[in-house]
Amino acid sequence: MKIILLGPPGAGKGTQATFIANSYGIPQISTGDMLRENVKNKSSLGIEAQGYMNKGNLVPDQLILDMMKNRLQEDDCASGYILDGFPRTIPQAKGLDVLLASIDHSLNAVVVIQVPDDVIVNRMGGRRVHLDSGRVYNVEYNPPKKEGIDDVSGESLIVREDDKEATVRKRLSVYHEMTKPLIEFYASKNLNAKINGNQLINSVQKEIKSALDKV
Ligand code: AP5
Ligand code: MG
Repeated sequence: MKIILLGPPGAGKGTQATFIANSYGIPQISTGDMLRENVKNKSSLGIEAQGYMNKGNLVPDQLILDMMKNRLQEDDCASGYILDGFPRTIPQAKGLDVLLASIDHSLNAVVVIQVPDDVIVNRMGGRRVHLDSGRVYNVEYNPPKKEGIDDVSGESLIVREDDKEATVRKRLSVYHEMTKPLIEFYASKNLNAKINGNQLINSVQKEIKSALDKV
């Protein structure tokens, strides 16, 4: 299965990508997690990306495409993957088409998670993340077993740098302008499965599973 997860910031892409990855035994490839790892390690990519990320802007397309070109050719991608947060612009989607053709891969589905903006702003204030794994929690809707602590590793959870309300609103406006046009782009290829993301996490998971079962 080669799947794209598309949706606004806070739609639940990371949350649902973990379920899908586990159920199909495929890697979850999150460009956001990869970039945060680079920021943490102060790599040259991380140093360049950080300024864009903290302001809620997109990192330039070519940096992302170069990063993904390497990632999609790793051994664990041979039987599929779930792309979380990529592509995010029309040039990235066109770049992905070229890349996939060059390695003889084709997409099976684009899962579009839809959530109204006001619901997202409310969710993001409660998000906590485990930086190393990308595991996502919410103090209200999906709390860890022990407050502030990752269930699996026992390490501390953090609040993401870009989860301040003003930055979330900026990220939403960038989504509407730059990323939403991808829904049309993939509709023309008959790949879209539209999912109501404004329901319980389990219900979203079930709706995605039944959509993917039909692919
Ligand atoms: P990225 O990390 O991809 O952030 P994003 O797209 O803004 O999405 P989020 O990770 O914020 O949300 P999510 O949809 O994963 O939701 P989650 O499951 O966490 O990108 C960050 C930055 O990196 C970008 O701004 C950009 O600068 C850069 N970047 C990344 N990729 C790029 C690219 N391809 N090109 C250019 N730049 C790129 O859930 C959110 C919260 O809600 C959590 O607390 C969760 O527990 C909770 N929640 C989830 N589902 C539900 C539900 N159904 N009900 C209630 N709460 C829920
Ligand atoms: Mg995410």
